[in-house]
Amino acid sequence: MLNAERMDYQKNEGLDLGNLIKNPFEQFEHWFQFAVDADAFYANAMTLSTVQNEKPKSRIVLLKDVDERGFSFFTNYTSAKSQEIVENKNASLLFFWKEIERQIRIEGVLEKVSAKASDEYFKTRPRESQIGAWASPQSSPVTRAELIERVEEFTKKFEAQEVPRPDFWGGYRLIPTYFEFWQGRPGRLHDRFVYENKNGEWKIFQVAP
Ligand SMILES: Cc1cc2nc3c(=O)[nH]c(=O)nc-3n(C[C@H](O)[C@H](O)[C@H](O)COP(=O)(O)O)c2cc1C
Repeated sequence: MLNAERMDYQKNEGLDLGNLIKNPFEQFEHWFQFAVDADAFYANAMTLSTVQNEKPKSRIVLLKDVDERGFSFFTNYTSAKSQEIVENKNASLLFFWKEIERQIRIEGVLEKVSAKASDEYFKTRPRESQIGAWASPQSSPVTRAELIERVEEFTKKFEAQEVPRPDFWGGYRLIPTYFEFWQGRPGRLHDRFVYENKNGEWKIFQVAP
């Protein structure tokens, strides 16, 4: 999914409404692949912002899948972010690829991915990460000694068996209603193109930099 065909694209190539892909998911994949090809550091790292009691909170998570339903990442369902999501499912994602001077803002609502999708992804993780999911009470106060002890405990518990996915660990999908593609241009006349979903249709327009 994240390995769209390589496209020949100049870093500072101008954009205009005419050469944008009408489907924002395809436009995203096009830019994502360009970032990967340009060796952007952690191209799939995205800032996830949530809101709790009117206060925004941000942190990096890794994009693991994107399709027409939305953008998925995996985390601990008892973490601070997950508690914030229970209270308010509105969230935003932000990608910044400095190597190609591009930024993408995405806004929408979060839903949990299916248990099956979380199981499938969990199975692909290295055993160490699977044990880590059990051992780390994400966002709770902890000491390094406690963490090491918990890793040892779960390593022993799951010795000689496949590590099952903890039910407190899984994926979320952000279902977008808004995208903004930003391309740095010389002279500060940067390009900004917005895709806004109105009644199921994507409206595309440019905004001032
Ligand atoms: C490069 C990078 C990738 C990360 N990827 C994830 C991730 O995919 N899932 C996750 O839960 N935390 C990830 N983290 C850690 C989060 O930024 C954050 O510390 C953690 O999820 C706890 O956030 P919370 O207390 O707001 O819930 C990553 C951090 C960095 C710097």
